[in-house]
Amino acid sequence: MNSPRRVQHQQTDRGTIPVYATGVVEQPWDTYTKTDHQVWGQLFARQREVLPGRACQEFLDSQNALQMTAEAIPKFSDLNPILKATTGWELVGVEGLLPEFTFFEHLANRRFPVTWWIRAPEHIDYISEPDLFHDLFGHVPLLMNPIFADYMEAYGRGAMKAHGINEQALLNLTRLYWYTVEFGLIQTAAGLRIYGSGIVSSKGESIYCLESDAPNRIGFDLERIMSTQYRIDTFQQSYFVINDFEQLFEATRPDFAPIYDRLADRSSIPARETLESDRVLHRGTREGFSTDADT
Ligand code: PHE
Ligand code: CO
Repeated sequence: MNSPRRVQHQQTDRGTIPVYATGVVEQPWDTYTKTDHQVWGQLFARQREVLPGRACQEFLDSQNALQMTAEAIPKFSDLNPILKATTGWELVGVEGLLPEFTFFEHLANRRFPVTWWIRAPEHIDYISEPDLFHDLFGHVPLLMNPIFADYMEAYGRGAMKAHGINEQALLNLTRLYWYTVEFGLIQTAAGLRIYGSGIVSSKGESIYCLESDAPNRIGFDLERIMSTQYRIDTFQQSYFVINDFEQLFEATRPDFAPIYDRLADRSSIPARETLESDRVLHRGTREGFSTDADT
C-alpha cells in the first residue's frame, strides 16, 4: 500500500502543512502497483500532449534526455547517472514535504528531494501537496540546464542564510521560489513559454497561464516578487516573466541582506494587483477570481 507516513503538521505562512519524516528513503520501486504506473502514464501522456508549444524547449528536451516515458514510473537510479553527468544534481527519495531547513540543505548540496509516492486515480487532476508526478515530471527536467541548476543550488544556500535571519526574510524567499521555480513563465523567440514546475505538472494551469485573460503577466522584478502574496488554492492571479535563466541567476547573485531590510518596511502586494512600476505584459481581467483574501 503506497500511503505516505504523515508525521506532524507545521504552521507556515501557507497555512498548516503536513511534514513527513526528514530522512531520505530508497524509492520503493518494486512496490508500485499497476495503478501507480497507469496514473504516471496517463498524466505523462496528457502533459506531453499539452506542453509542446507551451513549455519552454529546454524543459521538453531535458525530459527526453532523461528518457522519461509514459511506460512506467522512472527509477531514480536510472535518472541519477544522467543528471549527475550533466549538472551534478542527484535525486533523493522522500515521504513528502520536508521541514524547510532540511529541504534547503538538500538544494544547497545539489540534491533534489522527490516524493516517492504517486497520487491515486481519483485525484488525477488535483492534489493539495506535491507527489511523485509533480516532483519528477515538473521539477527534475530543468535541473539538466546548467544555469537553472546553479540557481537552485544558490537558492538553497540563500534560504539557509535567510532561515538564520528572520521569518520575513524566509517569506520573501518563499515568494521568489513560488513565482519562479513553481509558477514562472519565460519569454522566448518562439513566444511566451512555461518553465514553472507547478504549471507544467497541471493540465488546467498549463493552458490557463498562457491563454486566459484573467491573470496578470508581469515582467520579472526581484524585489517586487519578493513582496508579492500568492494563492495556494487557485490558479495564480499573477505570473512573472523572465527573459532567460541568466536573468534569474544574475538578479539573485547579490547579497540579499540589504534587500530583506528594505522589504521589511514595505507592505506586501496582493496577488491580483499590478503596480505603476510594473512592466505589465498583460493586465488581467480578474474574471472568475474569488473575492477572498490571499495567503
Ligand atoms: N544571493 C542571495 C543571498 O545573498 C542568495 C540567493 C540566490 C537567493 C539565489 C535566491 C536565489 O541571500
Ligand atoms: Co514543487
